Amino acid sequence: MLLHLSTWAEIESFLKTSRTVVVPIGSNEQHGPTGLLGTDWLCPEIIAHEAQKRGDILVAPTFNIGMAQHHLDFPGTIALRPSTFMAAIGDWCRSLAHHGFEKIYFLNGHGGNVATIEAAFSELYAEASYAGRRTGFACKLRNWWDLKGVMGLANRQFPTGHGSHATPSEIAVTQWAYPDAIKAANYAPQIAPTGPIREAGDFRARYADGRMGSDPGQATPEKGGELVATAAAALLEDVAEFGAEANP
Ligand code: NI
Repeated sequence: MLLHLSTWAEIESFLKTSRTVVVPIGSNEQHGPTGLLGTDWLCPEIIAHEAQKRGDILVAPTFNIGMAQHHLDFPGTIALRPSTFMAAIGDWCRSLAHHGFEKIYFLNGHGGNVATIEAAFSELYAEASYAGRRTGFACKLRNWWDLKGVMGLANRQFPTGHGSHATPSEIAVTQWAYPDAIKAANYAPQIAPTGPIREAGDFRARYADGRMGSDPGQATPEKGGELVATAAAALLEDVAEFGAEANP
């Protein structure tokens, strides 16, 4: 079930059966010469939307802008600073909690978001602690590549040149969902260099075409479909487990 294609009355009635909601979250940032700018928010959205076709979960609109300051020297990247990102996550959670959602599950598509999402959760819990009340809800963060079976499959599909940015696995997922948007390029070198992540100017100087350690030329829609099937099944299990956690 997709929240944005539902009415308020349908959500009110969903709340009578479940208090759990899944929020895909990512980033809109450059993904090398062939990766879509939306890759990091499209991947969790594609997986969550596929999962809701196979199981009874509610998926909220995708939170599609995140921590991408280091990609800002590549056109099309849109970034939030950490304080803005945390404030926005806080209000998403407060809004959902206001309706009675108790388990808010963020399916993340961007490694650079992790520290700030966790800090946003801590802010929410601190708010309740200092006020001497129970939050009434719990938040959970899961990266889509950490869902059961996904990284093992990606390692088998791409034993070399997976890398950490503009990876063949994430690009394969978008190729499966958006075959009309598949791009081609000659990669030089075939496997991109790796190194640290600092500010935008430093990033562009180190990683000329935007990739880090990856060879996205190995991506195919078929491999993407396998990743989505594995991830969607694991997401349903993970969300069910989270939803079943008892509040003490
Ligand atoms: Ni990415």
